[in-house]
Amino acid sequence: MILVLGGAGYIGSHAVKMLIERGESVIVVDNLETGHAAAVHPNAKFYNVDIRNEEELDEVFMENRIESVIHFSANSLVGESVSEPIKYFDNNVFGAINLLKIMRKYEVKKIVFSSTAAVYGEPKQVPILETSETVPTSPYGASKLMMEQIFKWADLAHGIKFVSLRYFNVAGADASGEIGEAHGVETHLIPLVLQVPLGQREFITVFGTDYPTKDGTCIRDYVHVTDLIEAHIKALEYLRLDHNSEIFNLGSGDGFSVMEIIEVARKVTGHPIPVKLSERRPGDPSVLIASSEKAHKLLNWTPQKNSVETIIGDAWKWHNAHPNGYKSNKGAE
Ligand code: UFG
Repeated sequence: MILVLGGAGYIGSHAVKMLIERGESVIVVDNLETGHAAAVHPNAKFYNVDIRNEEELDEVFMENRIESVIHFSANSLVGESVSEPIKYFDNNVFGAINLLKIMRKYEVKKIVFSSTAAVYGEPKQVPILETSETVPTSPYGASKLMMEQIFKWADLAHGIKFVSLRYFNVAGADASGEIGEAHGVETHLIPLVLQVPLGQREFITVFGTDYPTKDGTCIRDYVHVTDLIEAHIKALEYLRLDHNSEIFNLGSGDGFSVMEIIEVARKVTGHPIPVKLSERRPGDPSVLIASSEKAHKLLNWTPQKNSVETIIGDAWKWHNAHPNGYKSNKGAE
């Protein structure tokens, strides 16, 4: 059995669906702080448990024969982490320590977990390699880097093997249109842009037009959530083959500016999507592009859906069918 922590969230729910479609037995643990009960796959066994609750998490391990863990239960907003650092270290770092104690107790030796491009901070060169310098500029990035270090020492001492996946900009949705991104407070570019054609927002604000890029707006590397989960499944297979612990970047290797994303969204939705040019958002690096060469070589991972048209098209399919996320859809709550 695979334990998916955070399986009611955006990325976790996609992982659960894909694992179940491949015949795996899945248990979901989620405290529903940002996840949705309606996003939990009907064939997954669900526990409403917070990973920081040692007693309750212990029970999940006692009741089930868990072979491996995929861990998505973290807070992940850069801006929020700056104003609420303790929340981030508590959930992300303390949560991971709690999890490791229990994995050690039940001798669960395999874990794949989400890390982030935010561990690098402002990169000195692009594309970014896993060996590039890590100087996080936010508590969020720092918390993920700490998690990686804790897992490294737990591996050396207790043989708990891990794969840490440093995501770049995850977007898109399952091609079925049944699950997708639905955050209480949305901060990510693509879902915010799509709120304009949905009639929920009049314009999209572009944060900064004076970056040293081709059109002055920030460049990011967008990876489709389905490709991202494919990498998790390959990472799990990698650990099942008794390989060593590794860290991988996950991105498509292509960079798109904020303006280019808005332009593609106009084409996909057929809506003019007005923009309002504004100041830089504090802490945004100008260019983030991944080298995913290592994941390609060691995991045999190649993103299949790396056209931004497909990424935005799949996101649009989800948002258009579920304009209020998981809230307003009869029968889906
Ligand atoms: N942006 C806008 N307007 C908006 C929202 C975003 O112009 O209304 C811009 C941002 O300034 C940025 C780009 O769109 O240049 C992408 O912003 P997102 O918030 O969608 O994503 P980030 O690149 O800030 O965040 C991603 C991941 C984080 C990770 C971070 C690392 O989502 O988990 O990269 O810097 F930590």
